[in-house]
Order: sequence, then C-alpha cells, then structure tokens
Amino acid sequence: MTESLTVRDNRTGQEYELEITDGTIRAADLKQIAVEGQPGLATYDPGFVNTSSCRSAITYIDGEAGILEYRGYPIEQLAESSTYLEVAYLLLNGELPTTDQLAEWTHEVTYHTFVHENLKQFIQGFRYDAHPMAMLMAGVSALSTFYPEAVQIDDAENRQLQITRMIAKMPTLGAFAFRHQQGKPYVYPDNGLSYAANFLAMLFKMSEPEYKADPRLVQALEVLFILHADHEQNASANAVRAVGSTEVDPYSAVAAGIAALYGPLHGGANEAVLRMLRRIGSTDNIPGFIEGVKAGKERLMGFGHRVYKNYDPRATIIKKACDDVFEVTGVNPLLKIAQELEKIALEDEYFVSRKLYPNVDFYSGLIYEALEFPPEMFTVLFAIPRTSGWLAQWSELITDPEQKIARPKQIYTGHRTRQFVPIGQR
Ligand SMILES: CC(C)(COP(=O)(O)OP(=O)(O)OC[C@H]1O[C@@H](n2cnc3c(N)ncnc32)[C@H](O)[C@@H]1OP(=O)(O)O)[C@@H](O)C(=O)NCCC(=O)NCCS
Repeated sequence: MTESLTVRDNRTGQEYELEITDGTIRAADLKQIAVEGQPGLATYDPGFVNTSSCRSAITYIDGEAGILEYRGYPIEQLAESSTYLEVAYLLLNGELPTTDQLAEWTHEVTYHTFVHENLKQFIQGFRYDAHPMAMLMAGVSALSTFYPEAVQIDDAENRQLQITRMIAKMPTLGAFAFRHQQGKPYVYPDNGLSYAANFLAMLFKMSEPEYKADPRLVQALEVLFILHADHEQNASANAVRAVGSTEVDPYSAVAAGIAALYGPLHGGANEAVLRMLRRIGSTDNIPGFIEGVKAGKERLMGFGHRVYKNYDPRATIIKKACDDVFEVTGVNPLLKIAQELEKIALEDEYFVSRKLYPNVDFYSGLIYEALEFPPEMFTVLFAIPRTSGWLAQWSELITDPEQKIARPKQIYTGHRTRQFVPIGQR
C-alpha cells in the first residue's frame, strides 16, 4: 500500500488500514469494520456531496480556480475556436477529430436528423399547452421503440449508431415540441445547414423558401451549445448513469437525464433569473433588493454554485455572447439591471465572503429571451447540447469494467415485523 488511512474503531479498539487511491478510499473497504452481530460500517451521503461514483476522463472542473475542461481542453479555447459537433466528437471519442473525421461525423449526424413520421404524430398528440421539455422527454423515450436494436449495448457499432441518431434527432424533436406549443406547422430539417443553423430554421421558418439565420446568432447558439455540452457528474449525468447501469437502451437512459434536467434546481435557474430581473424592474430598486437577499429573504438567482467558488468560466463566455446577440436583436432592457446587480454583488462583503459569483444561468436567460424563446424552451436548449455529454458519460459507463448496477444502501428507520391488522379492526 503506497498511501493509506489508519482507522481505529472505538467500539472494539481494533485498527484497520485502508488503501487511499486517487484521494479516495473505497466505501466497500469499510465493510470489514464491524462489531459482531452487526453489518459492517457504511457511509451516509445524501446528495452524494462527498462520494465519487465513477472514474471519468471526460470533464474536469476545478471549482476553486474556476476551471472547466473537456478532455483536457479549456472551455474558453473550445468556445472560441470550435463548433458544437466538433466538441461532441471530442467528448464522445476523447480526441479532437481530424478534418476527415469531422467531415464524416458531420455527414453522419446530418444524415440522421429526420424522425419517423409516426414520431411527428406522437408529438402532435400532446395538448396545445404541453411543456416542450415533457414532449422532448417523451419523444426521446419513444425513439427506443423505433430502434429496438438499441438494447444491444454490448455492440460498439450499434452503440455508435444510436449515439449519432440521438445527437442528430434531438434538435428536430426540440423544434417540433416548440412549434407544437406555438400551434405552427412543424419544419423538417434542412440538411444543407449547419447543426445550429438548421435548429434555428426548424424553430423559426415560416413561408420563406429558405430560412437564413443571422450568422452572429448561429455563432452565439454554437457557443451556448458548447458551454452546455457536459459538466461531469451533475444530477442529470448521474441519472443517465444510474439508469444506464441497468443496461437499458440509451434512449431510455437519456430520457432519464432529461427528466432530471427538467427540475428547477438543475435546468430551471435561468428562467428564475429573468423573473427576478423583471421583478426588480429598475436599477434604482437594486440596493433594496440586495438588502433583502442579505437579510435572507430570498436568493440572488444566477449567483453561487455547488462546485464553483469562483467566477463560473461559462458565465464569462456567455457575457461576451450577450454582446454579439444584442448587436443583432437590440439590447434586452433587463441587461442593465443584470450588469448593475453583478457589479454591486461582486463588491459586497456578503457575496465576496461566501464566494458567490455569477454562474452560467445569470446571463443565458437574457440571450434566450433576446432570441425570442419562451422560458419553457430554456431547458430544451440545455438538453439538446447536453445529449453529447450524457452519451459520453453513458459510453464510459458501459465500457467500464468496474461499474455495477447503481444500487445505494439505506439506513432503515421504519418499523419491523408487525402483525397485519384486517381493515375492519384498524
Ligand atoms: C447553486 C446553489 C444551489 C448552491 O448551493 P450550495 O452549494 O448548497 O450553497 P449553500 O446553499 O450552502 O450556500 C452557502 C451560503 O451562501 C448563501 N448563498 C448561496 N447562494 C446564494 C444566492 N444565490 N444568493 C444569496 N445567498 C446565497 C447561502 O445562504 C449560505 O449562506 P450562509 O452560510 O450564511 O447560510 C446556490 O448558490 C443557489 O441557490 N443559487 C441560486 C440559484 C442558481 O443560480 N442556481 C443555478 C446553479 S447553476
């Protein structure tokens, strides 16, 4: 044993030596620490605040330093120089593609953008006011019925085909859900356009023969997609891995990821930021609002993060994308309030001492609103690019010999062995 931890069990006086590998001990090694007649020692960690669930080579985060890297490449460089499909390839394969590899990958994804007509009818079956995220989740889940061979998860070629299909079809499903909610006809993919430009066309095209989005908006969407592509073991990646560990098909595993992302604690914060900014209404009201936050009446939405105790590197990049988008759409009047709020909070002792900095959601809602997305679409815009991250996490799980079905322990706090009482006697 090179590095180890010596533990003394004060119940028995016995000492144990546990191996330390990569800064962790194995929870299973604690089982040997036992008092006669009782089960071995376990850990209790609701919310997994200090438990590593896997080894992963996909995304690196240093929250103290504000660093985010995909496969070792800093997010700033990828956002500046790459495209979403190139980043998806990187996340899935571990290396940046060569020119030929990227051309083939782009062709494959483009070729798979159409969905079966029955899937279109399936989306049409939803009520007019159905939430697009729920439609997306159901749509992805339904895809598994169109590709029953997807259950062959031990076949690498088959896995690759499903991965390509899902990344290709996600914008189509997201756009169909959006159009459905708007009561507009669905727009089929245009395979002559880039991934992001095609998505914008499926969302916004009306009667014009060809929809040409402003290239600055296409570029801003590419950047937003890159920033949201993966974020290591967050709640939705964990959901994909937990469900995927049962060896279910990847469509069902990703549907579980979408369900996790649907929750307001995960994907919904940018919508909350917009509501907050609207409520503040004017920069004159900021001091009063900040006092309320400091008094614990409410939170400054879009600030703070479980992992980042520094400026979220994605927030810096999004701020720049804001400028590019507003150049085309005109400035969102809420921007002034957001900027002033940020300035005051970054100087205020309350926020500084708690290491509360803007996170990715602080500015993303402003951009989405400027692009004329209703708030219900915000999480869909998150789910589409996150699909590459979920699938990279899923592939890693499937090929990791150390992984098992996810099945945590519990501390049982209920009754034991009671006698059943017939209903008339209760
Ligand atoms: C993201 C978040 C849930 C992280 O929470 P966490 O890591 O569990 O941190 P805690 O809730 O323990 O907060 C630590 C301290 O900072 C304060 N704090 C955290 N976020 C705050 C915020 N946005 N506004 C005001 N105070 C905040 C807490 O009140 C607490 O203060 P205390 O020590 O005086 O009690 C939290 O920062 C938050 O609610 N942010 C707003 C919502 C948001 O933007 N979410 C998107 C995340 S990407």
